[in-house]
Amino acid sequence: MSKTIKKICCIGAGYVGGPTMSVVAKQCPHIEITIVDVNAARIAAWNDENLDNLPVYEPGLQEIVAEARNRNLFFSTDIEKAIDEADMIFISVNTPTKNYGKGKGMAADLKYIELCARQIAAVAKNDKIVVEKSTLPVRTAAALKSILDNTGNGVNFHILSNPEFLAEGTAIQDLINPDRVLIGGENDEAIAALVDIYAHWVSRDKILTTNLWSSELSKLTANAFLAQRVSSINSISALCEKTGANVDEVSKAIGMDSRIGSKFLKASVGFGGSCFQKDILNLVYIARSYGLTEVAEYWDQVILMNDYQKQRFADNIIQTLYNTVSGKKIAFLGWAFKKDTNDTRESAAIYVADYLLSEQAEITVYDPKVSAERIYADLDYLNTRSSEENRALVKVVNTAYEACNDAHAIAVLTEWDEFKRYDWAKIKEHMKKPAFVFDGRKLLNRKELEDLDFKYYAIGE
Ligand SMILES: NC(=O)c1ccc[n+]([C@@H]2O[C@H](COP(=O)([O-])OP(=O)(O)OC[C@H]3O[C@@H](n4cnc5c(N)ncnc54)[C@H](O)[C@@H]3O)[C@@H](O)[C@H]2O)c1
Repeated sequence: MSKTIKKICCIGAGYVGGPTMSVVAKQCPHIEITIVDVNAARIAAWNDENLDNLPVYEPGLQEIVAEARNRNLFFSTDIEKAIDEADMIFISVNTPTKNYGKGKGMAADLKYIELCARQIAAVAKNDKIVVEKSTLPVRTAAALKSILDNTGNGVNFHILSNPEFLAEGTAIQDLINPDRVLIGGENDEAIAALVDIYAHWVSRDKILTTNLWSSELSKLTANAFLAQRVSSINSISALCEKTGANVDEVSKAIGMDSRIGSKFLKASVGFGGSCFQKDILNLVYIARSYGLTEVAEYWDQVILMNDYQKQRFADNIIQTLYNTVSGKKIAFLGWAFKKDTNDTRESAAIYVADYLLSEQAEITVYDPKVSAERIYADLDYLNTRSSEENRALVKVVNTAYEACNDAHAIAVLTEWDEFKRYDWAKIKEHMKKPAFVFDGRKLLNRKELEDLDFKYYAIGE
């Protein structure tokens, strides 16, 4: 018999902690869950009466929060109380790429994880199961265990690795119906306690249990393989543009081979999101630190290809617009790294914009879910130019029609469905001629646009 978990604390109320724990709360009304965060504004937004103000946008999330919040799902800044009362603690804090010191630009920054471990150790007065939900370098559990055991109050800690495989934009669906749940650990009772929670809605044959290190490494590996497929097809998209092949036709032809499969073979301006790049960099760093140079270089190429694709997309815009975009207005449709999320971390749009701004373009952005504040913060973070210059060169507007008004060209950076439904004749009417569209997501209908006399360019065609 495993220990029955009555109270859970989740540290980190971000894109993973928020949706993941909301779904656990929905599926397990008998468990009381408190999600805590040091960011008081974020917690306040999770507690906002108006569900449109939740800090994370995901289809289906609002309904679940409405159902479970203040029933068995709570959002709080009182971290110590939540740790003290919980039987099981999920650590779901950010693990960004280090931007200082040893491993700068490559290794995962584990300072937030370590802070959590120290706080858990200081507060815990009874035995706890500590679950790594954040994506961590392989063997982090050993460091966690050492901190917990050496700084704690003599209570027992069992560490589990339970990486999250949700994709933003489909997080709720992925959480309710996961391909698999992975739990790594050493203590059978602790593993069983977590398996029992998931078993409330996931069939047991989809719940895999492994040793800690396989679980930690599987998460990095899964992201590396997914990103590799995008970079592989993107590399072929460049070749398609030179040879007259069409990358969609190539994707379809190879994807029907059951050994390859059809998913994740869509060419685009490049992958973004908070995870792929950071997790591959981390994998590369780990491989290098074990002296596995060839392994490190192999995976590094996935990132180099992604950078190349973003650069190529921007270069094509400049070249096509008669080799200069200086003083020209480019409308950006989309800023989020993919549709159905308000997350912009590592979005291709940021890098394409930065490159075009360095060529003195003027950019007007419309994204249905991303705020102006976020867009300016993303550009300021790059430090390429002053924040005043970013604000002078980039305008953020509330409709796509406004964005495209008087534009020399449109660049589609996110595959939001609504872009397909626009009145493209009306958009063209108000643009400079010839009216160019650069479709970084292969979203729009070439025939429709060409019939309207747009000059239409899509990746890999
Ligand atoms: N975003 C994804 O799609 C995704 C998918 C799978 C796994 N992951 C992994 O999950 C982890 C979290 O990612 P995310 O996207 O939710 O990050 P996020 O930045 O959205 O959220 C992390 C939250 O943790 C909080 N936090 C940091 N240190 C804290 C501390 N000491 N105490 C309390 N709160 C603290 C931050 O304030 C922030 O709100 C990362 O390791 C990431 O790699 C992310």
